[in-house]
Amino acid sequence: MMTMTKIPKKKLFIKTYGCQMNVYDSERMGELLRPLGYDMTERAHEADLVLLNTCHIREKATEKMYSELGKIKSMKSQSGGKMTIAVAGCVAQAEGEEIMRRQPAVDLVLGPQAYHKLPEMIARVSRKVGDRLETDFDTLEKFDALPKKRHVTGPTAFLSIQEGCDKFCTFCVVPYTRGAEISRPVDDIVFEARNLVHQGVREITLLGQNVNAYHGKAPAMAAATGAGEEWGLARLVRHLARIEGLDRLRFITSHPRDMQEDLITAHGDTPALMPFFHLPVQSGSDKILAAMNRGHTREDYFRIMQKMRTCRPDIALASDFIVGFPGERERDFQETMDLVDTVKFAVGYSFKYSIRPGTPAANMFGQVDEAVKHERLLRLQALLKDQQEAFNKACIGRTLPVLVTGKGKLAGQLHGRSPYLQAVHFDAPDHLMGRLLNVEITSATLSSLSAQLLYDEAIA
Ligand code: SAH
Ligand code: SF4
Ligand code: F3S
Repeated sequence: MMTMTKIPKKKLFIKTYGCQMNVYDSERMGELLRPLGYDMTERAHEADLVLLNTCHIREKATEKMYSELGKIKSMKSQSGGKMTIAVAGCVAQAEGEEIMRRQPAVDLVLGPQAYHKLPEMIARVSRKVGDRLETDFDTLEKFDALPKKRHVTGPTAFLSIQEGCDKFCTFCVVPYTRGAEISRPVDDIVFEARNLVHQGVREITLLGQNVNAYHGKAPAMAAATGAGEEWGLARLVRHLARIEGLDRLRFITSHPRDMQEDLITAHGDTPALMPFFHLPVQSGSDKILAAMNRGHTREDYFRIMQKMRTCRPDIALASDFIVGFPGERERDFQETMDLVDTVKFAVGYSFKYSIRPGTPAANMFGQVDEAVKHERLLRLQALLKDQQEAFNKACIGRTLPVLVTGKGKLAGQLHGRSPYLQAVHFDAPDHLMGRLLNVEITSATLSSLSAQLLYDEAIA
């Protein structure tokens, strides 16, 4: 008779900082460790392995990681040293050696392109041999080494299709932490998407640092018939939209320079592509856009957003903004305010410029005072908040399809997402979880919508 060797059960705690790409990476690391007996826990102190997946984008994000490490270190001492501490993500890539020096309790450090090596590194830590730092760049090797099948619960999921960045905006660390731009082959993405749908996923958000720069190897079939060797994002989206059971597609984050005409028109003719478009602009001043090395003007931005609205009149537009970039005068800032006023956004993410050592903008003249940055941020946020509230209020009385993603705050409530990515809650029984339902919006606040379920109009 065969005897199975039982893998001892262990607990894994993951804390994720930063962007959606990190959320995806954390899920993948969890999936990678499952066959080794690791189950997820919400409680760091009871974990055998604590993994911090870090973000380097602004100084604050990096500081948070060091303070969290302090707390985890005392948990490790309480565990009698049994706990393993791993630091992954963009801070690991940017300052791995420094993390090890500043916090000796850290057992291993691995960059975003090396996380497929996690099992091997854990083995090295337990044997106390070999490198504890892995920050190589070989992104496609990583994707090849990950388990092909995903392990997800719930109706929504992220799927990374493109990674890295060659744009080198002068303020940004991403090209240094994520490496050069690469696109995954279409066949791999389709396989992963089908696998997600098979597990009940109905909405997929395609991820990339410059997702619309996607240029992946065409499917074997298409290449053989001469239908192109590489596909862009629009073609990929149209292809994925044909997967049965995949009701909704989204993608983030795009760059104005890579905005192709066919991606704009896809929003008008591909029903699965949701009417939400996030296009970071950073500034409304041409002078600042040039200093940031964004490679486009404010007029270019207006043109793209205008075309998008022509193709899909109800589209919700979103953007990112940086205030207080070196050399930003009040009149430059006013141009950002004017851009916001002209475009009218459904959502806006705004940040004070944060000096990132090693990036060109860190050494530029005309660094802006903290107090000035702060005051500009407040003004911009007030305007964006007004626009967000106005967008939400304009939905009152409309019937919207909502994908139910979980239970609401109050008993008897469920919540979900509108096509415009708004949070919607309404009274409904639990068995409707995961369904796509028509609801009528009854009231709206800055951050969410309340609705009434239209029973006879449920979609699926
Ligand atoms: N690839 C995307 C966004 C990447 S980072 C793009 O091209 O726009 C996400 C957001 O963080 C950026 O859009 C920017 O608004 C902000 N950000 C990046 N570096 C920053 C810095 N040094 N200081 C403040 N905000 C920053
Ligand atoms: Fe950073 Fe610019 Fe690349 Fe976006 S495009 S990740 S802001 S360098
Ligand atoms: Fe942060 Fe890295 Fe994402 S720096 S924003 S986690 S790509």
